[in-house]
Amino acid sequence: MKISVKNISGINCVCDALILLFVEGDSEFYKKFGSAFQKQIRKAFSKEFHGKRNELLLMPAPKGIKPERILLIGLGKKNEVSAENIRQAGGKAAVHLRDKGMKKIAVSTNLISSLKLSPLNFIEGALLNLYKFERYRKEKDNKKINNITILSKTSKRLSDELRLTGAITSSVYFARDLINTPSNDMTPSDLAKAAVSLRQKNLSVKILEKKDTEKLGMGAYLSVAKGSHEPPKFIVLEYKGAKSKPLALIGKSITFDSGGISLKPSDGMEKMKYDMAGGAAVLGVLKTASALKLPVNLIGILPATENLPGGSATKPGDIARSITGKTVEIINTDAEGRLIVADAIGYAIKNFKPKAIIDIATLTGACSVALGNEAIAMMGNDRKLLDNIKKSADNTFERVWEMPLFDEYKEYIKSDIADIKNTGGKNGSLVTAAYFLYEFAEKTPWVHLDIAGTAWVEKDKPYIPKGASGIGVRLIIDYLRSELR
Ligand code: BES
Ligand code: MN
Ligand code: ZN
Repeated sequence: MKISVKNISGINCVCDALILLFVEGDSEFYKKFGSAFQKQIRKAFSKEFHGKRNELLLMPAPKGIKPERILLIGLGKKNEVSAENIRQAGGKAAVHLRDKGMKKIAVSTNLISSLKLSPLNFIEGALLNLYKFERYRKEKDNKKINNITILSKTSKRLSDELRLTGAITSSVYFARDLINTPSNDMTPSDLAKAAVSLRQKNLSVKILEKKDTEKLGMGAYLSVAKGSHEPPKFIVLEYKGAKSKPLALIGKSITFDSGGISLKPSDGMEKMKYDMAGGAAVLGVLKTASALKLPVNLIGILPATENLPGGSATKPGDIARSITGKTVEIINTDAEGRLIVADAIGYAIKNFKPKAIIDIATLTGACSVALGNEAIAMMGNDRKLLDNIKKSADNTFERVWEMPLFDEYKEYIKSDIADIKNTGGKNGSLVTAAYFLYEFAEKTPWVHLDIAGTAWVEKDKPYIPKGASGIGVRLIIDYLRSELR
């Protein structure tokens, strides 16, 4: 896919289809394209197209202009148009044209600029929605867009934004590929290989083997790995772009969650390959940071293992000792995410004294019960960090919704014989899972992002095709960049 910027008018652009954006009820925006053209647009506005949000109309181009076809796409009411509407329009328009077999497309940026929005949101939406996971198809889809031309004046700002959008979307693709890959091809070792593939001068990757983590005392993490024949891999990445204290990013990396001895019901269990979506997001962020040489320091940690039942698996009632020395009574082996993330938090604090920790995890089914598939559940111990992540969530539309960490939740996870237990019962299980992690973060500023409801989409969204969403990459990159502004 080639993306280029050309400072020519739409009527002079040789392409299969030219995309024109419209706000609701205004058929006149492109009238300088000529009277034949304008007549055709007015006719459309009289019946089949109104400029409503994400409304589409593909038509042959009138004689006398160079594009073969025109695609009209609506943005909705003029005073309500946001960056997100532009992103969605990009997603919808690009996939519509791809599915009709178009190869070379162009987009007019006049309306976007007149609304003081960025054409790169359109490109971002387009690229994100053009994603396809085809690894296991013998016959690949040959409908592919090869060329997108942005019709605009060239500028340093535009080319910088283009580079940024390219880096971010390719990292989202990277994350989605890892998540969509089934667990037989995405074992902890495969995930470790994917991490190693990101090695660069500014990005180091180290894999702690089982015996290393035993030496370090990561009993909570290891208790999850006990039932599997696949060796666990504790993956640590270090991105150095500055001299400051690092930010630690921890991604839950259960490559398959069967529940362990507390086995899950088989209905829908196939989806538990996406229980490493947090880890994939962290890899996506480090990949982007490294490609863009962002002036920040990052630690990425992916505690990777399968969670399976078996003769040597952890049993309910067993007690594990975490790297911090805290003991955990394992009431339910299906509450494994918090065990591996807790040891990762302990490891991060011990080894790197990070200025803050963000963990991202498909942690609880209760997350989707509370928020459906529309928002990340966010909890944390640091107001400023929470507020800044909320801002980035609004910028990227990877929305977060904050949930409380009331002191009273501590009671829920009190164990009779260990320091803490790994479940607090059904009620409040979204927040008690986070409270468990809170007990390990202690005084380090920390935010937890539960992406169980958003990491996988059941039906196409405007720029997320069904399957892995790759959520978290755009959010965290925006947060990192906002810290630099
Ligand atoms: N990986 C699951 C959470 C999950 C469920 C993610 C559905 C995505 C979709 C997690 O390990 C889990 O099993 N959580 C349990 C915890 C319970 C046993 C306290 C849950 O939420 O049911
Ligand atoms: Mn589980
Ligand atoms: Zn899980």
